[in-house]
Amino acid sequence: MLVAQNVHSYYGGAHVLQGIDLEVPDGKLIAILGRNGVGKTSFIRSLAGMAPPVVRQGSMRYNNTELVGLPAHRIAQAGLGLVPQGRHIFRSLTVVENLTVAARHGTQHNGKHWDLDRVWTVFPRLTERKQNRGNQLSGGEQQMLAIGRALMTNPSLLVMDEPSEGLAPLLVQQLRDQILVLKQEGLSMLLVEQQLGLALAVADDVYILDRGMVVYHGSPIDLEANPLIMHRYLGV
Ligand SMILES: Nc1ncnc2c1ncn2[C@@H]1O[C@H](COP(=O)(O)OP(=O)(O)O)[C@@H](O)[C@H]1O
Ligand SMILES: [Mg+2]
Repeated sequence: MLVAQNVHSYYGGAHVLQGIDLEVPDGKLIAILGRNGVGKTSFIRSLAGMAPPVVRQGSMRYNNTELVGLPAHRIAQAGLGLVPQGRHIFRSLTVVENLTVAARHGTQHNGKHWDLDRVWTVFPRLTERKQNRGNQLSGGEQQMLAIGRALMTNPSLLVMDEPSEGLAPLLVQQLRDQILVLKQEGLSMLLVEQQLGLALAVADDVYILDRGMVVYHGSPIDLEANPLIMHRYLGV
């Protein structure tokens, strides 16, 4: 379980996260929503130990390990797998190479281990692209590869920052189905999303950020019953 308490982060003097409280229970999928620039990526970077921003106050404990202050590779070792915003796959490496360089015998999840065959099962499209280089893939394929890479580290908590960004509607539907497969397997996930429909379809619980603060926390059903909140903070 991930427990973030009163997290304050800064870009220099700019106070970007102003006391975030958030929990990801084991086996649950928690979504973070909010308009552009409210601090979603800043929270993910703070969690993953990727400065900037710098966490100056608060705590993020994962299975009772304090993550604040740990370098990014130690946070990965603790079981956190990150799909960063903007994908960041290796463009000159093939699909297989991208996946195998990421492989790590880390924390196993449900006794199962991620390998190439299991990635092909979840993302059949990548099977046809095994020997293509990163820069030859479509946006959707790059996103699948970025998720596959994170899975190859055998995370116990998969963190995805706007995986649907730039995807055509059909691919967003596929992504939703792939996320649901991972959820059925019991993988804990933290999902930052701009696409409300996707988030509401997969999340157990939703947090909305505004100006570096949590302004709403509830179930997707409660949020859908609250059009004022959706209008005010998500512009829908
Ligand atoms: N490297 C940076 N240096 C200074 N300010 C930044 C940096 N990255 C983001 N910001 C600012 O922090 C705020 C939150 O950004 P971000 O976390 O990327 O928002 P989101 O992911 O919700 O769109 C924005 O005002 C943004 O301009
Ligand atoms: Mg962002």
